[in-house]
Amino acid sequence: MIKTRITELLGIKYPIVQGGMRWAARAELAAAVANAGGIGFISAHTQADGNALRAEIARARSLTQGPIGVNLTLLAANTGIDYDGYVAAIVESGVAAVETAGSNPSKYIPAFRAAGIKIIHKCTTVRHALKAEGLGVDAVSIDGFECAGHPGEDDVPGLILIPTAAEKLSIPILACGGFADGRGLVAALALGAEGVNMGTRFLLTQESPLHPALKQHMLAATERDTVLVGRSYGDSSRVLRNGIVAEALAKEKEGGVTYKDLLPLIGAPRWMKAMAEGDLEGGAIPAGMVIGLIKDLPTCAELIARMVAEAKALVSQRLRCVME
Ligand SMILES: Cc1cc2nc3c(=O)[nH]c(=O)nc-3n(C[C@H](O)[C@H](O)[C@H](O)COP(=O)(O)O)c2cc1C
Repeated sequence: MIKTRITELLGIKYPIVQGGMRWAARAELAAAVANAGGIGFISAHTQADGNALRAEIARARSLTQGPIGVNLTLLAANTGIDYDGYVAAIVESGVAAVETAGSNPSKYIPAFRAAGIKIIHKCTTVRHALKAEGLGVDAVSIDGFECAGHPGEDDVPGLILIPTAAEKLSIPILACGGFADGRGLVAALALGAEGVNMGTRFLLTQESPLHPALKQHMLAATERDTVLVGRSYGDSSRVLRNGIVAEALAKEKEGGVTYKDLLPLIGAPRWMKAMAEGDLEGGAIPAGMVIGLIKDLPTCAELIARMVAEAKALVSQRLRCVME
């Protein structure tokens, strides 16, 4: 056991969280993380609507007795997404926690609170973390510049972001972006976080649905093989370098194209298909700089046990946790 306020809040053995990943974060992955002593988040908008999400939560429940959560990514451009249906499914299913992300979650906080569901808001800046704390969330997860997906536009890496947030917030923090092993876990605790939230590392596990060809491709990648697209539009996304991404970046640089114009290249339908089919050039596939540290495809149980063993071997008495 590694005890922090995060493990107490979520009722987990280790302060290790599998963050929401569109397309990838489904019942098998979330349940495998829960069975290994962490908590896994099913991605709501991977499911077509509230009913599909309800069925996915039930499927996860059939695979684990451990706590599972749901990631609710609130997209600014709400393109007909069934948010009310998702929220109803989350509340009725009584999951342990919800990870909100993307936009201000205030509209849904009362419903989650009333259902006793813990709320973790994921954000990329200290000011947004403070805002979320003010709204009454239970914890925040803060993504540094290194992270896969949307790192925001401030470009502050975790080494600065996490301790700055820890100094200013009273609620517990999950360090997110760039974590993959016991060294990262200990570093996160040393910086004032009380757990880690990982995306790319869990994408590269046995239980992840990512196509084997892409898993192998990502294992061979280095920390220099990701890049930000969408920067000119204030919607940066960290993705794997490939031909499609180079084409999108060239268009961005040229100017005269809108973000909407780029969507046929970098939009989610294309990268989700690429992830399913193992098409290395098929889309702008989200991945973090941490791919440079990831060299194997363990099960979630092997990964978490190894991280904990490494952390225990590394930890000093001065960190904010109790190890038994
Ligand atoms: C394939 C993929 C899809 C993701 N989709 C989402 C998403 O829909 N919502 C969200 O809040 N975060 C999403 N993320 C970000 C992760 O939850 C997490 O914040 C990020 O991966 C942390 O950085 P790391 O990859 O270095 O661990 C995604 C990440 C990946 C790799």
